[in-house]
Amino acid sequence: MRFDTPATTNPIDRLRIIGQPVDRIDGPLKVRGAAPYAYEQHEAVPNQAYGWVVGAGIAKGRITRMDLDAAHAAPGVIAILTTENAGPLDKGKRNAAPLLGGPEITHYHQAIALVIAESFEQARDAAQRVQVAYAVEEGAFDLAEAKAEGVGPSKDSPDSKIGDFAKAFAEAPVQLDATYTTPDQTHAMMEPHASLAAWDGESLEVWTSNQMVAWAHQDLAKTLRLKKEQVRIRSPYVGGGFGAKLFLRADILLAALGARLAGRPVKVALQRPLIANNTTHRAATIQRIRLGAGRDGRLTAIAHESWSGNVEGGEEENAIQQTRLLYAGANRLTGTRLAHLDLAEGNAMRAPGEAPGLLALEVAMDEMAEKLGIDPVEFRILNDTQEDPEKPDRPFSQRQLIECLRQGAAGFGWDQRSAQPGTRREGRWLVGLGMAVGFRNNLVDKSGARVRLDGEGIVTVETDMTDIGTGSYTIIAQTAAEMMGVALDRVVVRLGDSSFPASAGSGGQWGANTSTAGVYAACVKLREQVAQALGLNASDADFADGMVRSGERSIPLADAARDGALTAEDTIEFGDLQKRFQQSTFAGHFVEVAVDAATAEVRVRRMLAVCAAGRILNPKSARSQVIGAMTMGLGAALMEELAVDTRQGFFVNHDLAGYEVPVHADVPRQEVIFLDEVDPTSSPMKAKGVGELGLCGVGAAVANAIHNATGIRVRDYPITLDKLL
Ligand code: MOS
Repeated sequence: MRFDTPATTNPIDRLRIIGQPVDRIDGPLKVRGAAPYAYEQHEAVPNQAYGWVVGAGIAKGRITRMDLDAAHAAPGVIAILTTENAGPLDKGKRNAAPLLGGPEITHYHQAIALVIAESFEQARDAAQRVQVAYAVEEGAFDLAEAKAEGVGPSKDSPDSKIGDFAKAFAEAPVQLDATYTTPDQTHAMMEPHASLAAWDGESLEVWTSNQMVAWAHQDLAKTLRLKKEQVRIRSPYVGGGFGAKLFLRADILLAALGARLAGRPVKVALQRPLIANNTTHRAATIQRIRLGAGRDGRLTAIAHESWSGNVEGGEEENAIQQTRLLYAGANRLTGTRLAHLDLAEGNAMRAPGEAPGLLALEVAMDEMAEKLGIDPVEFRILNDTQEDPEKPDRPFSQRQLIECLRQGAAGFGWDQRSAQPGTRREGRWLVGLGMAVGFRNNLVDKSGARVRLDGEGIVTVETDMTDIGTGSYTIIAQTAAEMMGVALDRVVVRLGDSSFPASAGSGGQWGANTSTAGVYAACVKLREQVAQALGLNASDADFADGMVRSGERSIPLADAARDGALTAEDTIEFGDLQKRFQQSTFAGHFVEVAVDAATAEVRVRRMLAVCAAGRILNPKSARSQVIGAMTMGLGAALMEELAVDTRQGFFVNHDLAGYEVPVHADVPRQEVIFLDEVDPTSSPMKAKGVGELGLCGVGAAVANAIHNATGIRVRDYPITLDKLL
């Protein structure tokens, strides 16, 4: 189905099952431990061996000698994989650095060997006996230093210039010129990257934990120089991703190569202390923002430049993208500068671009509101725009930002905020309120599904879509149930298998809208088949309560499959509505903090998010996404930081003991309000995404609340105690 005109009324609009806060259908499996994750596929194939990944001990240089004798002689060792015996490999399309390094090393903890043994403990033990000598080369590891040496706009992403920024800024009566920094961050999902691989002759099967089955399928086949038909990938349950599992990573490749070398199935989990340096991370940024406004509070000049670093072939952290769309202002300059760094590859982490970009922009907006003496909520409302500020005549499909802010302010008690920072005190606590705008674009990609109706009236959906803890199983079941007019318990959903139709996968908060739209498309076809089988007119047939009704006739749905199951498959493809309309999601984030006047301990006391993100397919799972994201935003504001050793070139705190994320005791009462919205330009589902929106802007709201509490403006994340004392 091609989607190129705004959606009209369709069966989803009945909202009998879609839009209901139903429980996760995979919930009971998850809590009983009956949903096997990749490393738990004990029954999938017999004779599984265990791999332990050896990571490079230097950031840049060459291996001069590798002594594997002691490791080979250790108990239980079956084989040791290195580039010496891996066979020829191509580089996957989506990997900047080789997943198996040697002799050339391009980043710290790059995998250089996989030790395979009968047991996990034996593999771990033997791996400690691998001796490696290196010739170390000097590398670049310090973003501030790289920036000082000067990097300009890259030709792939040139600056965007509208009007005359320099002149407008110089003439603006009120100006702000401030620089903000955001640190490297690691995804820290609960389940590490893990894979089990088994060969049958020239055919390979992999059970893994990956957000994008179709991408992994393509890249694994390419890397191993196999045809796609020779490779099958399954990723039915994913214990969190946040972008870490968008791409083929070392666990998948090494399990496949290791299994070929060992001649038996091999499973590999990346050890937790390896993940931060071995895989991708969110790259640090240095962001300079200049704002100019008239005394009336209207922005006349907006500039946002962002510096980040990456390995050869890696891309910039696009922290300026929201600044091109969020506020009106006639004179604009935005651009990214990419420095070469020899750290691990920087790549997508939840809301890449907007998440770090808003940490800077929304503090700058708070600072500007203060300079202007205007309430921060009113300042945003004053500078709202209903059109793309860079491309006039191009409207937002929906933009309820003002409603988000007004409802948020009313619901949170914003009028209790003292405009004078540092003036509200409760005993030893300084109390402050802060807010920020949340913004994230709505992306779409084609997405396919297959649906089958059997003689029992059971509807089975198959798509390679993944559920990374987000609720995909449930909203896909809701979609099929709504379309086919059956109860939720009559629907079976099977996900995460490359033998199913390719979906858009779980990324960029596009998964919910696009994968359900693919299921919708397949169901439209299945309804036609059903109507035909029952001799009814498809155009006026009503599917409800397990029955199909047309005119005077009412026939059980299952009758259509009496002589054999009916199967339909389709893919939703998107036309140019994304070009004609700017599709984005919006939020108002409100936070109350208390800061200990003596120790500077920060406690977040209350959080509220008001979101406008199209139709909410399941308010319960959507709310879970948003409160999880708000928690992550709290972490980004106060805790999360990969500390770079700028001499040796690696992230020092590379485990969950050293990399701090919020725990339950850090998280206060969180409230989420979804505005009523349907976006007919996004898909037949009229939905958009919330999983990343929930994060965007949260950290800035915390920073602004801290300023309101203390009068201290921190522009350097995370806001740890030392920066407040
Ligand atoms: Mo998201 S960073 O595209 O998983």
